[in-house]
Amino acid sequence: MSKFITETVTYVHHWNDSLFTIKTTRGDSLRFRNGEFAMIGIMVDGKPLARAYSIASPNWAEELEFFSIKVPDGPLTSRLQHIKVGDELLISKKPTGTLVLDDLLPGKHLYMLATGTGLAPFLSLCRDPEVYEHFEKVILVHGVRHVDDLAYRDFFENELPNDEIFGEWVREKFIYYPTVTRDEFKNTGRVTDLIQSGKLFTDIGLPPMNKDDDRVMICGSMAMNNDTCAILDSFGLTISPRMGEPADYVVERAFVG
Ligand code: A2P
Repeated sequence: MSKFITETVTYVHHWNDSLFTIKTTRGDSLRFRNGEFAMIGIMVDGKPLARAYSIASPNWAEELEFFSIKVPDGPLTSRLQHIKVGDELLISKKPTGTLVLDDLLPGKHLYMLATGTGLAPFLSLCRDPEVYEHFEKVILVHGVRHVDDLAYRDFFENELPNDEIFGEWVREKFIYYPTVTRDEFKNTGRVTDLIQSGKLFTDIGLPPMNKDDDRVMICGSMAMNNDTCAILDSFGLTISPRMGEPADYVVERAFVG
């Protein structure tokens, strides 16, 4: 039996030369927790070619959404970037992953730290009612190289705060903090440097990160993940050692990159 279900592409949006979003239909069978990933792909020479992608849509939505980088000469993304509405997309049947609310201990503030396409799981989680029920503040930090890499900026700044269901929670609790490393912008510098220097906390008006109040989800490149974990460890926060064992923070790689 195939590991994949087949869905139909309903929407493709290219943010710039290197980033794009795909939406597909969603059959009844796919169940997932917000923040999880699936394998997605296409048939190549009669075989599935698939990579892990966080599901960017919330689990109550009627469609599935994925946020992708175009890796130069990448076997999958060099093909996937040409996908069109009406094409088929393979999606694995059993999403999984570590960026789930279940694996965080109760806390006051939830920090979602992303670089690049590591944003994807947080697009799902920021539309999860439980996130707002469990936390007083929800802070999304998105670090990218260039201003035009800030995909979904309008969604966070304008759409989400005015959303019929989430608007009130978002206006009260959600803080969007985009930061750029290679252009001029209102916030600049790496996510890691902003945390270590404390500038992030001054800018958003919250206390420095601490084990009593703060819970963290991390999704970036391997280097970003490792550096961020080391900083959180130095602040005394502990990582969830394995799925199903809650702790102060959880981490996932932004897979394709
Ligand atoms: P920088 O421009 O200083 O490399 P990438 O596209 O390479 O994944 O990078 C996305 C963002 O993540 C960039 O702003 C980049 O900053 C930043 N970044 C790269 N490596 C790290 C790291 N080890 N820790 C924190 N941020 C990082």
